[in-house]
Amino acid sequence: MKDIKFYLQENRQILLDELFELLKIPSVSADPAFATDVEQAAVFIQNEMKRIGLDNVSIEQTPGYPIVYGEKIIDDTLPTVLIYGHYDVQPADPVELWESDPFDPVIKKTEIHPNGAIFARGASDDKGQMYMHLKAVQYLLENNRLPVNVKFMIEGEEEVGSPSLAWYVARNHDKLKNDVIIISDTGMVANDVPAITTGLRGLSFVEVEITGPNRDLHSGLYGGAVANPINVLTEMIASLTDKNNRITIPGFYDKVKELGVQERTEIAKTPFDLEQYKKELGIDDVYGEAGYTVLERQSIRPTLDVNGIWGGYTGEGAKTIIPSKAYAKISMRLVPDQDPEEIPRLFEKYFKSLAPKAVKVSVKKLHGGYPYVTPTDSPGYKAAAQAMHKAFGKEPLPIYSGGSIPIVPLFEKELGSKSILMGFGLNSDAIHSPNEHYGVDNFFKGIETISYFYDFYKQQLTN
Ligand code: BES
Ligand code: MN
Ligand code: MN
Repeated sequence: MKDIKFYLQENRQILLDELFELLKIPSVSADPAFATDVEQAAVFIQNEMKRIGLDNVSIEQTPGYPIVYGEKIIDDTLPTVLIYGHYDVQPADPVELWESDPFDPVIKKTEIHPNGAIFARGASDDKGQMYMHLKAVQYLLENNRLPVNVKFMIEGEEEVGSPSLAWYVARNHDKLKNDVIIISDTGMVANDVPAITTGLRGLSFVEVEITGPNRDLHSGLYGGAVANPINVLTEMIASLTDKNNRITIPGFYDKVKELGVQERTEIAKTPFDLEQYKKELGIDDVYGEAGYTVLERQSIRPTLDVNGIWGGYTGEGAKTIIPSKAYAKISMRLVPDQDPEEIPRLFEKYFKSLAPKAVKVSVKKLHGGYPYVTPTDSPGYKAAAQAMHKAFGKEPLPIYSGGSIPIVPLFEKELGSKSILMGFGLNSDAIHSPNEHYGVDNFFKGIETISYFYDFYKQQLTN
């Protein structure tokens, strides 16, 4: 039996080349212009699953982009691990801020990754991380050492809220039956501080439209007498938070679980360098809810952020108008036990109450998802911690992440199983941003760790 480290060394270039092929496919799920590329990424995953020897591999059609499924059932009486990941990526925009083509991966050294990082859209989120799972299972299958059953479910709509996956899961309870779900779509604290994510924030996403006069007006002839929807919108948005940066929507915090001293002490143990943080982001100060630390603000506290705002004239030179309409996209990150069904209703009621009679307001609810927490005493968590310990020589920290993977709480509701979030990315990977990258070492360490997980998991269950 070849040792995994030896195997990775021996196959280093092949594994990178394969991942590069996948990264070259611009599978942007948000933009219909890339539809054939998204489909092509699914085919790539399908071929890969077949090649490593999975059975019943299929491209499962859905109302949206397909889900790629494959499994290896070695014995019905053994536990089953379901692996979830996504092959779709965020748009590369703004493309001009990339130092290399987002869909032509290159390896470059960085301060944090002296052995190089792969620069490409999706390198860390989530192609590079999802691919580690295929490679870990490939290694175990080649060596006849897969100790449990595995099922892979790789989707192509994660970045747009997983609408079809919810549809698919609801219709395939039996097929997807499992004992634990493992996902690498999150991060660690640092390359020498491995972590397992035990909390994800939920999400409510809304788009608002403010309508003033029925057409753009001359701002001289009408200015001062008619409401300007952009002026009004910005004032309304400003009213959504107070001086302490708390959200003013009535009822917004009602269901928020306040953490106790002990839990907050645990969070404070996560290594964090404020000066480094500010430097990395090019900011002179941090900004957020009074009474909470930066780590808390970005993980266990709910937020409200305008993601985009538009209206009126933004072209060259001046155009003196009062615009007819103004728009904004607003996202709210939620924490236990806030409800993504309720929050947009509270938002809409309050937001409308803020508007003067001189404008009309419409609020459109876009996708959302529940927050998630998972305990650290489950067999899956313990096995993941053992695997990380073996690979990194260190106990991983349990961390609450501020990001959202709305399908994770849905898996628990629909399939009754917990997800173990063992991610290998870093915040500095610039996911969703220009110059996204993923450490080459992170990629190989990830494969190594995942390959250890399976034996530990079986041991945990038979102990
Ligand atoms: N992989 C991320 C989520 C993530 C990243 C969680 C890092 C924790 C750490 C995922 O692809 C993502 O971007 N999710 C979206 C939500 C989705 C509904 C668009 C998010 O968090 O904005
Ligand atoms: Mn992701
Ligand atoms: Mn993402």
